[in-house]
Amino acid sequence: MPVFVASAKAPVNIATLKYWGKRDTKLNLPTNSSISVTLSTDDLAAYTTATASPAYKDDSLVLNGIPEPIEQSARLSACLRELRALRAALEQADSSLPPLSSYHVHVFSKNNFPTAAGLASSAAGFAALVRAVANLFELPQSPEELSRIARQGSGSACRSLMGGFVGWEMGSKDDGSDSLAVQIAPKSHWPTIKAAILVISAQKKDISSTSGMQTTVKTSSLFQHRIQNVVPRRYEEMKNAILNHDFELFATLTMADSNQFHAVCLDSMPPIFYMNDASRQAIRAVEELNRAAGKTIAAYTFDAGPNCVIYYQQEDEQAVLGLLRTAVPDADKWTSTNASASLLHGYNTELL
Ligand code: DP6
Repeated sequence: MPVFVASAKAPVNIATLKYWGKRDTKLNLPTNSSISVTLSTDDLAAYTTATASPAYKDDSLVLNGIPEPIEQSARLSACLRELRALRAALEQADSSLPPLSSYHVHVFSKNNFPTAAGLASSAAGFAALVRAVANLFELPQSPEELSRIARQGSGSACRSLMGGFVGWEMGSKDDGSDSLAVQIAPKSHWPTIKAAILVISAQKKDISSTSGMQTTVKTSSLFQHRIQNVVPRRYEEMKNAILNHDFELFATLTMADSNQFHAVCLDSMPPIFYMNDASRQAIRAVEELNRAAGKTIAAYTFDAGPNCVIYYQQEDEQAVLGLLRTAVPDADKWTSTNASASLLHGYNTELL
């Protein structure tokens, strides 16, 4: 019996304007728009192969060699359901196509970075899955259209379907049809921006983003201020900073947004702590670096974990990496060691 195969790779993206909060948990519709930068290093990517065959008895997912319980994952089923519906429409229009929409699908995915340690593993994972199955089904849909589907796997995954600087527009429709990712600018627009990643801990985070953000939505009053008064304006400002190559503004907004995201976590009940002492040390090092430079040459940002991502421009690389090596504990190890639970490790990455 025939087996149809397709593969895809998807990069991680690190938000500079954070998505935190859902207005619809089923469709993964956010309470605010967000912006991210896609990182192109091969060290931080998800690789997925999808196969379909009339011989398969069920859908299955193997993640890093371990079978995952697919029937329990509503997110995965939602993505597969939508992708199958698009394939079925193609098959209806052209009866010579093999009926892949009626076959079960086996998905094999691997990534080479700490899963669920706040390094956007679910973003890359679901983006690679949606891209691989879309390739398998030979779907003509654009990355924007596919981003609506990836969003249902993991919100941040919608931003990993395109490179460069990406916005996720929250949309206003109840069916989520206008909640999708758009490319603000390709990498070539601003090729000198780079990211350094300090893996402070590769341990799985205590509180998942999914549950943490809903605790915030339910309990934080600061959060209401954030989504109503801060993010809408910040989205436009950050977009313009990117379009105008204004690094100081981009960096200042990025740090402010990371800080406000962690503030609304602290304002949740029970409070959520993602940063640790080493994270705060990295913040102080960046603040000191900017003070010494007399201008903002580096921006830190932290997702739902203690690991630090620092954005800077190529021309400042010596200064940024030099200071981090001396200011952050275990700095002598961070450029050369593999990520582990206790060591600080750095990836110095290109953007996609
Ligand atoms: C802090 O996309 O992992 O990284 O939609 O529930 O899967 P789910 O959440 P997820 O949340 C990411 C939160 C964040 C900020 C961001 O990437 O914008």
